[in-house]
Amino acid sequence: MEQTFYDAVGGQEFFIKLVDGFYEGIETDEVLRPMYVDQDLTESKRHLMLFLQQYWGGPNTYQEERGHPRLRMRHFPFAVNDDARDRWLKHMQASLSKMELDEALRDQLWTYLVSAAHSLVNTQ
Ligand code: HEM
Repeated sequence: MEQTFYDAVGGQEFFIKLVDGFYEGIETDEVLRPMYVDQDLTESKRHLMLFLQQYWGGPNTYQEERGHPRLRMRHFPFAVNDDARDRWLKHMQASLSKMELDEALRDQLWTYLVSAAHSLVNTQ
């Protein structure tokens, strides 16, 4: 069987670290932080980690706990404009830059994140 992206990056540990690093940026972001109502961000973190690991071929826990991702719909309650998108991507890039990763895998992940973030803009 072909190796999944999830296996190639080392499994869940990779996604936990990526999301933890990303949320360090969110914590101090004056535009994005207020969008996250959960005080300690634990659940928000967990949902993003579960979603990403599932997307990249890991366990389907996200689907089991949250149902179909429907990301666009789930982001409608938040005003995602170009500024919010760029901030989101900036924190993701900062976190990704700290991860040890093969360049081809890094590019693959980054291309996906950029495209997903662009697809979630819902207001200007
Ligand atoms: C473009 C900028 C984005 C903004 C401003 C944004 C903001 C948010 C906010 C405020 C939440 C709610 C968190 C909570 O429940 O406390 C959320 C949830 C979530 N976001 Fe984003 N997001 C963005 C992009 C993305 C992208 C690109 C992805 C996927 C690659 C993503 C995946 C998710 C997931 C999986 C959840 C949890 C959904 C659930 O199960 O409830 N987001 N996002």
